[in-house]
Amino acid sequence: MAYGDVGIELGARVAAALRRGLGVEITPAEAVIRPSTRDGVDYQCNAAMSLAKKVGKPPREVARSIVDNLDSADLVATTEVAGPGFVNIRLSDAWLAGRAAALLGDDRLGVDPVPDPRRYALDYSSPNVAKEMHVGHLRSTIIGDALLRLLRFAGHEVTPHNHVGDWGTPFGMLIEHLLDEGWTPDGGHSISDLNGFYQAARAKFDADPVFADRSRKRVVALQGGDEATLALWRRLVEESSRHFQKVYGMLGIELTPEDMYGESFYNPYLDDTIADLEAKGLTRVSDGAVCVFPPGFSNREGEPLPLIVRKGDGGYGYATTDLATARYWTGERGMTDLLYVVGTPQAQHFAMVFAASRMAGYLTDDHTAEHIGFGSILGEDGKTIRTRAGGSVKLVELLEDAVDNAAKTVAERSSLDADAQAAVARAVGIGAVKYADLSNDREKDYVFTWSRMLAKEGNTSVYLQYANARCHSVLTKSGTTPAADTEVLLGSPAERALALALLRLPAAVEAAATAYAPHKLCGYLYELATTFTAFYDGCPILKPDVPAEVRASRLVLTALTSAVLTRGLELLGIEAPREL
Ligand code: ARG
Repeated sequence: MAYGDVGIELGARVAAALRRGLGVEITPAEAVIRPSTRDGVDYQCNAAMSLAKKVGKPPREVARSIVDNLDSADLVATTEVAGPGFVNIRLSDAWLAGRAAALLGDDRLGVDPVPDPRRYALDYSSPNVAKEMHVGHLRSTIIGDALLRLLRFAGHEVTPHNHVGDWGTPFGMLIEHLLDEGWTPDGGHSISDLNGFYQAARAKFDADPVFADRSRKRVVALQGGDEATLALWRRLVEESSRHFQKVYGMLGIELTPEDMYGESFYNPYLDDTIADLEAKGLTRVSDGAVCVFPPGFSNREGEPLPLIVRKGDGGYGYATTDLATARYWTGERGMTDLLYVVGTPQAQHFAMVFAASRMAGYLTDDHTAEHIGFGSILGEDGKTIRTRAGGSVKLVELLEDAVDNAAKTVAERSSLDADAQAAVARAVGIGAVKYADLSNDREKDYVFTWSRMLAKEGNTSVYLQYANARCHSVLTKSGTTPAADTEVLLGSPAERALALALLRLPAAVEAAATAYAPHKLCGYLYELATTFTAFYDGCPILKPDVPAEVRASRLVLTALTSAVLTRGLELLGIEAPREL
């Protein structure tokens, strides 16, 4: 992959040196070039250790040969063999300065689009109709949106699809409950409390056999395509959709009603999918249900686990829909990579769906399918977050709280007027919720703490937003706009460190996009912001005694820092206000 990364460029030189010196062929990535934290060393090449065996020479000798044959006078200042066979590399100041200066005119900030773009179908958010979105859906929405932005920026084609739970047996009782509440297909009603609505229907279903019977008949009518029933069902879907769109609006998520590919969307494909699985000889009837048994999955007793594709009563379930979903996105839409951003408890479901899809040929060697799992959000007591009353947290309230808390943080030091402060409080509050989620390894649980996520120091979005605002403030005060041909001067270690950090966006985007791991981009942005802070504290910019060419260079570094922070935050779905 070519992300315009310095490491890859160095890797290509190391590969050429190995070809020249020892006659071995490796790819630039196999040169294992890693940023170094050692004093005076920018990058380290770790290839010699693994190549030693292959070429039958001690690692230090391989490293020596790399150093002796490296043709890189334009790019590298010094090299040395260290330890068991590392090659320490220090870039030349002139090259660094030139590269940094070139970034100023580059809208993509050095990130080349991938040469081999893929076609991604990205399943995220995916809440359930007639239920409030819960924090699991919040995580899916935030992570999915960041992946969408990252993968698109990397150069891939990405189609989002919101796999809303809008079908199945609960809809019988929900529609009967609607009727009892006096709903008609053409409206006038609304549900203020989706969860309450669901629970009331459930309670009636459990307590009242007549209602339960009506509900079951209603499911049959719904699945049979009865128009009156469908009209009511549509009202319920619209009503829920309004709630989802409200949450997306607050979050600044671009999912629209057009991205809705609810379970019901796949209805017309289910029969055919089952017929196809049967024709391929992949199904077996077990306890009256039609099942696929992908190899390698068994229960605690060691018995093979089924993926039920048609239940004994003829109904279809969650798994059937997911098989039809995989088949649709690869077969009908020509996607190459399927991603599902769904909580970790569904890991086995997806593993089985993928295995069955491979058996059926819905996924081939040209396709990848991946469950992008994530952990839970915990309260400060270490348990899954709940409100004080013990109920599940309402997302809208949680997001409103975020903005309220951010408003207090902003008011402490802002000189903005009330309207501007409100807009900034939204950017800071929503940004804090997103960043707290994205900056942690997604597979892990994380603790939701207002004080920590709104802290002005540390790896928080507020810290990054303040750093960016500081850049803007300096640029505004300077009264100039850095010109693209300004020479960058790296007279002090802090300036050099900042230039080096600015050049690492491509590596960060690659790391985050290839591992579907937004926290890697967060880690990089945090490092950049701290490097900028050290530069800002140590290198005066606007003081009268700073020579004009030094000031101009420092302003370029400042403008670039702001550009990278703004772009990075945008890739995470977070706003970067110019003033806080
Ligand atoms: N609606 C489901 C839930 O809330 C998530 C759906 C995820 N996507 C899928 N293709 N199964 O648990």
